[in-house]
Amino acid sequence: MNEVKSIKNICCIGAGYVGGPTMAVIAQKCPHINVHVVDLNEQRIDDWNDADLDKLPIYEPGLADVVAEARGRNLKFSTDVEKAIDEAELIFISVNTPTKTYGVGKGMAADLKFIELCARQIAQVAKNDKIIVEKSTLPVRTAEALRTILHSTGNGVKFDILSSPEFLAEGTAIRDLHKPDRFLIGGEQTERGEAAVQSLVDVYLNWVPRENIVTTRVWSSELSKLTANAFLAQRVSSINAISALCEKTGADVDEIARAIGKDSRIGAKFLKSSVGFGGSCFQKDILNLVYLCRHFNLPEVADYWEQVVMMNDYQKHRFSKNIIDSLFNTVSGKKIAFLGWAFKKDTNDTRETAAMYVADELLQDRAEIHVYDPKVTEEQIFADLEYLQTHRVGQYVEQGEVMSINEIRSLVTIHTDPYLAMHKAHATAILTEWDEFKTYDWEKVYNAMLKPAFIFDGRNIIDKDQLDTLGFEVYNIGKGK
Ligand code: UDX
Ligand code: ADP
Repeated sequence: MNEVKSIKNICCIGAGYVGGPTMAVIAQKCPHINVHVVDLNEQRIDDWNDADLDKLPIYEPGLADVVAEARGRNLKFSTDVEKAIDEAELIFISVNTPTKTYGVGKGMAADLKFIELCARQIAQVAKNDKIIVEKSTLPVRTAEALRTILHSTGNGVKFDILSSPEFLAEGTAIRDLHKPDRFLIGGEQTERGEAAVQSLVDVYLNWVPRENIVTTRVWSSELSKLTANAFLAQRVSSINAISALCEKTGADVDEIARAIGKDSRIGAKFLKSSVGFGGSCFQKDILNLVYLCRHFNLPEVADYWEQVVMMNDYQKHRFSKNIIDSLFNTVSGKKIAFLGWAFKKDTNDTRETAAMYVADELLQDRAEIHVYDPKVTEEQIFADLEYLQTHRVGQYVEQGEVMSINEIRSLVTIHTDPYLAMHKAHATAILTEWDEFKTYDWEKVYNAMLKPAFIFDGRNIIDKDQLDTLGFEVYNIGKGK
């Protein structure tokens, strides 16, 4: 094996949901390594540097403590991308790779323009050999594209390219990083490649047992990330498919999940039926997988995976349609309270959140929507709704008409008090499973709502018997009457 480089300086390009928490934990666990996180977005960097830890750009339980411990010691946030690249022996690329919204592969393929820009910048700045690690989820064979760009300068600098996709889930990122099921590293099967892999293994070994670090070839690592997310999303779509059948037959989807989850071959996790999965990864990664399969002329495989996304679209649509149907076929001019906007609890991330799609369908019928979310800002909610108007993709969204932001603002109100959001509402819809919703005084809510008082629990988190007793008209996902 070539000499294994000992890492003293790490650079991470991209201070987002992946780069920020991951680097904070590396810095916390490796006090002997300088970790420099850079981003083009000045506001984001200012927020990471804010003395008030409540202002960090990402809400993630436990993150503030980790940042407090490492920032100023061996963890730095800045916009000085060139300096960070120049000083580092190892560079993580953690920039966003959204689904393309234009041109070839629109609505399916990952947009690699940010990755390409990073590679060009690294190639331009680097004066000595570097290990480059893909942290963002990328289509298979991106490493090859990176290699081509990096080695095109002809200045003799050598780059080793590794894939080490992140498996953290938002809301539990710090726990997942502290105690990962596995860290994965894909590298080239050459002496140089193996030495580069070992350098990264040595970083992770500072807190992760060796048996939890899996090494593979680069393409397997890239494809493992897409496959893991596709399998997880598939489980959610599978249980959601069954939820529709439960509602027709009188079965209870949570009882079914409990019963099948006891089968050790199936397992209990990711069987919680919901209004539909969201987040930046599941849909994007599956569409990416579908695009790859079509590219390699595997239409049956592509169709198989695409169905997982279609089922998710159907689940969101079914929920909205049920609200409209139950409210006597129209929600026009009716006040609908939304509890939760984030795509899951314990995060302020709203990317692909089911709430936005449900809101859009109700707005098409001119509902008046009153939103309360404990962590998502008003600005973000309007940005999401506006984004959807300009990117109307998805089976049900495409059919809708484009609304102006002024129209949206005239129909949507954001609240900081949940009780005000539900005051005189015709219906309350629960979109995110925030724990605090379970502790509300539901009797007080019932008294303040218009009658019949409808509750649509898109997460099955509130005690149905209690709500029934209070007099609510309750609709749960996957629970037949
Ligand atoms: C996911 C993967 O779990 C993680 O490994 C990867 O690195 C990134 O993508 P994340 O999107 O942050 O993480 O959250 P996750 O907990 O997987 O939930 C995704 C969506 O599925 C959420 O909207 C969640 O509410 C929904 N979900 C999850 C369900 O509806 N039911 C479940 O049983 C589990
Ligand atoms: P993820 O969930 O994958 O972390 P985010 O969108 O939260 O995605 O974060 C990605 C970050 O990468 C953004 O803050 C964005 O400004 C940053 N970024 C994108 N391209 C570059 C680049 N070329 N140089 C530096 N930062 C970049």
